[in-house]
Amino acid sequence: MSTEKVEIFDTTLRDGEQVPGCKLNTSQKLKIAARLDEMGVDVIEAGFPISSPGDFKSVTEISKMVKNAAVCGLTRAVKKDIEVAAEALKYARKPRIHTGIGTSDSHIKYKFNSTREGIIDRAIEAVSYAKKFVEDVEFYAEDAGRTDNEFLAKVCTAAIKAGATVLNIPDTTGYCLPEEYGNKIKYLKENVTGIHKVRISCHCHNDLGMATANAIAGISNGARQIECTINGIGERAGNTALEEVVMILRQHPTLNLTTGIDPKFLYDTSTMVSREMGMLVQPNKAIVGANAFAHSSGIHQDGVIKNRETYEIIDPADVGVTESAIVLTARSGRAALAYRAKKMGYELTKLQLDSVYNEFLHYADVRKEVVDNDIHEIMELSRKNRAI
Ligand code: KIV
Ligand code: ZN
Repeated sequence: MSTEKVEIFDTTLRDGEQVPGCKLNTSQKLKIAARLDEMGVDVIEAGFPISSPGDFKSVTEISKMVKNAAVCGLTRAVKKDIEVAAEALKYARKPRIHTGIGTSDSHIKYKFNSTREGIIDRAIEAVSYAKKFVEDVEFYAEDAGRTDNEFLAKVCTAAIKAGATVLNIPDTTGYCLPEEYGNKIKYLKENVTGIHKVRISCHCHNDLGMATANAIAGISNGARQIECTINGIGERAGNTALEEVVMILRQHPTLNLTTGIDPKFLYDTSTMVSREMGMLVQPNKAIVGANAFAHSSGIHQDGVIKNRETYEIIDPADVGVTESAIVLTARSGRAALAYRAKKMGYELTKLQLDSVYNEFLHYADVRKEVVDNDIHEIMELSRKNRAI
């Protein structure tokens, strides 16, 4: 079975930038977009051009700069939005307009005070209008996660007939279970007329911590684009994390799916986005968190020192992390202490290690972590006591 490519649609600069306090200026956005392009992202959602003059400028400048990826601008199903997005994207080598409308009953009733028929009409009108400006039009059915499948299939059929090239099925509220989201994609593949002509996209939010699992369920059922952000940032609890889907597909070759992303960039890009946005990465964040390759319990440290594979499924170098960290705490054993001491130039006999280890435990009990300076002190003390 040959391996198929899943396109990576990065929305760090649009959905990600919606996070309160994470506003970026144009030069920061250009810096991040250049990196996304370099690392192999297929589509960069650069912003929502009608939302502000700053966003319009950023989408324009990114369109001029990006060499490989398609550049995308978001719109509502509103003619003016589409015209402004087309204007901002006019320099892009590969422009894409991302237009759409809410399709769940609560969006139809409360946001639009409309009917299902009315929503289909607006979807057709928006896609057809966007098509006048660009060839590549992605249609989103907002809140598709909570939209009745039969109606969703009707909207999608209409959007394809109007010229959509990509169908985005967002789980806007992060509500779906992975099996439910996967079945939704399967249902659309089986019930939407013309579906073979377009790419299905997963856009999953993380309100219940299932954004990545849902995106994987989506591509396992035939979707071929994932919308994601660096560090999983985005509205409320965030979006699917780019680094997670990239590494899941690499670590599970039996899925026969791959991306065009070079994973060597993952850690550095995570740091860049965190720094530019002033938004810390949680230490236990998968792949890029400070503890993702750190080992602190004695049993784990002993295993990793003997062979990394005992407790690591990813070689840290693959994602651009220099090396695994052996963190010395009161839970560490002799093996970890000897390993770290040796790296610092202290070769200890078994007897010496026993005695130094006792001293180490006194330090470890009063500190959260024993650092290199503490080890120098411990060695100095042991020397004075003639233990080494
Ligand atoms: O979550 C969502 O539904 C969105 C759309 C605008 C694509 O971000
Ligand atoms: Zn979203």
